[in-house]
Amino acid sequence: MKDLIGIEGLAPAQIAELLDAAERFVGTRSTVSALAGRVVANLFFENSTRTLLSFELAAKRLGATVLIMAVERSSVAKGESFLDTLRTVEAIGADAIVLRHSRSGAAAEAGSALGCAVVNAGDGSNEHPTQALIDALALRRRFGGIAGLTVAIVGDIAHSRVARSNAILLEKMGAHVRLAGPPDLMPPQPPAGARVCATARQAVEGADAVMMLRVQRERLESGLEMSGAEYFDLYGIDHARLANAAPRAVVLHPGPMNREVEIAGALADDRERSLILDQVALGVPVRMACLERVLGAAV
Ligand code: CP
Repeated sequence: MKDLIGIEGLAPAQIAELLDAAERFVGTRSTVSALAGRVVANLFFENSTRTLLSFELAAKRLGATVLIMAVERSSVAKGESFLDTLRTVEAIGADAIVLRHSRSGAAAEAGSALGCAVVNAGDGSNEHPTQALIDALALRRRFGGIAGLTVAIVGDIAHSRVARSNAILLEKMGAHVRLAGPPDLMPPQPPAGARVCATARQAVEGADAVMMLRVQRERLESGLEMSGAEYFDLYGIDHARLANAAPRAVVLHPGPMNREVEIAGALADDRERSLILDQVALGVPVRMACLERVLGAAV
């Protein structure tokens, strides 16, 4: 596996192997030398907190040298093309490029053009494979498995690479996926196997897990004609609405979240019912497993 571009290209056995590999790193803060002498370059053409920092820490815990290119201060600002930039970073010595970009397909293009490994850290509304692996590991740790779970994904499905990667992964691993959100923010072609629900309440009813998404206002061509309070009324979740889900149901959110818009702050902070900080914490072990895999290292 030279690259990790999307969940779409992974077989269920490969997903399970990555989750098992990540599990070995959970709870450890020690550094190993599996990637000593290797160079991992983080190129984020879009903003990030969780993904950027956890890839950096993951690479350092594996003993790699980490380069972080501040895109806005790079020669991209002078007009250097996307592929010239990537080839330059590879020529400098990167063995792996972790790429975030606003354009769907950017990671696949990079993977085809480069000899070094490419890991997709989110491309447009296409895929965010490491986030889906994180969410799968969080669910597997809470429920003991993924097959048979019912997972509701609620919010801006159309623009969400997290929703797409999660829906594909969950279906491959035997879960049932329900989608709900504002009609303008539903994709014309939902991921295969996912059931589109008319209301958020229908999606949440009896679900084992509810994954909330923020409205990606930066990707909207025109504004959403709804206040935050109106949005919460139709699509938000709090303890009372989660009570319609299964008795032990949990809520997830990939972040960044808008409190009191898609999720009540009190629910987000309830560590019994909210896996949000578990998701963040699992980012490092999952990304260690992914870097280890694409760079062919054995820890
Ligand atoms: N979930 C996620 O991708 O968050 P960041 O944008 O902060 O990396």
